[in-house]
Amino acid sequence: MKKRLFSGCTPSGNLTLGNYLGTVRGWERNQETCDALFAVTDLHALTVPRDPEILRRKSLDFLCLFMACGIDPQKSTLFIQSHNPRHCEVSWILSCQTGWGELSRMTQFKSKSAADRRPSGGLLTYPVLMAADILLYGTELVPVGEDQRQHMELTRRLAKHLNSCAGPVFPLPEAVIPPSTGRVANLLDPTAKMDKSHDNKDTYIALTDTPEEIRRKIGKARTDSRGDFAMDDKDSGIGNLVRIYSALTGLGTGTIIWEYEHRGYGAFKRDLGDIIAETLTPIREKYNRIHREEDYLKQVLALGKDKALEKSERAYKCIKDTFGLITC
Ligand code: TYM
Repeated sequence: MKKRLFSGCTPSGNLTLGNYLGTVRGWERNQETCDALFAVTDLHALTVPRDPEILRRKSLDFLCLFMACGIDPQKSTLFIQSHNPRHCEVSWILSCQTGWGELSRMTQFKSKSAADRRPSGGLLTYPVLMAADILLYGTELVPVGEDQRQHMELTRRLAKHLNSCAGPVFPLPEAVIPPSTGRVANLLDPTAKMDKSHDNKDTYIALTDTPEEIRRKIGKARTDSRGDFAMDDKDSGIGNLVRIYSALTGLGTGTIIWEYEHRGYGAFKRDLGDIIAETLTPIREKYNRIHREEDYLKQVLALGKDKALEKSERAYKCIKDTFGLITC
């Protein structure tokens, strides 16, 4: 039997090369080998105030981008998280099983709540909703970037807790994090991760950027003040760019450094801009095509919702039953 796999992205900002290399790129292969679910996690977007019209638009944009990256709604379960109301229900049940102290110590909560004048309760319970997304489908594999590692640890603890109450029903979900692109860095500040909601669009490459924008952003990207291609500092700008180059071409970092050591940063950045543009152009074009097909999108949404409901039936009933809620 195929393993159950779940992943998703929150429809805020613009889907970036970081999201792509950190997780989305692998989904097309995942859907062949696994019973895969991919969600536009719109409920997660509500943790900070948003313009409802923009959230609606972004949710559809992300759905179309997932398909442009190779997700086939027939092979996978492609859906919008809020279309399956069980995510919220299970999230509430699991939040009652989670310590307030543990949630308030989460790294993402600490940094996001410090940056927010009136942090919402949702910001605190966000990782529980993520655990609900995963456990609701009896998930075994979860492709994510490095920044979700701590949330995955909480999810595993909750799975163990459920098993201690209900018997060994839930698999322990495993985070699948790519070793070299689990944390693609901000182009202008390599000590930070590339963030799709950053105010300055020059800090990231969006999947919908044109080749001109891509080349310009790579041209401006931070390299290293030493002027060489040393990879020893994990936070160096040039290290980040070489890892992106390597991930997109399949060439080892040593081969890339050998090639450009004498040709310099200028030649390296020109070639890298071209390589990224070549990768993203077909995605942007497919995205633009799918986005125009309104009737087809409605069918995709309806199919995804039905499949998500069906695949969540078993774990949903088991979780309710475990805590004494009557199912019918
Ligand atoms: P989100 O929308 O912030 O990011 C989507 C995915 O992209 C990864 N990622 C990165 N990978 C490499 N380099 C980066 N700079 C980078 N930035 C982001 C993230 O780790 C993530 O895998 N809470 C999640 C969405 C979610 C989810 C889930 C994921 C909700 N429920 C259940 C997996 C399973 C989020 O907001 O990711």
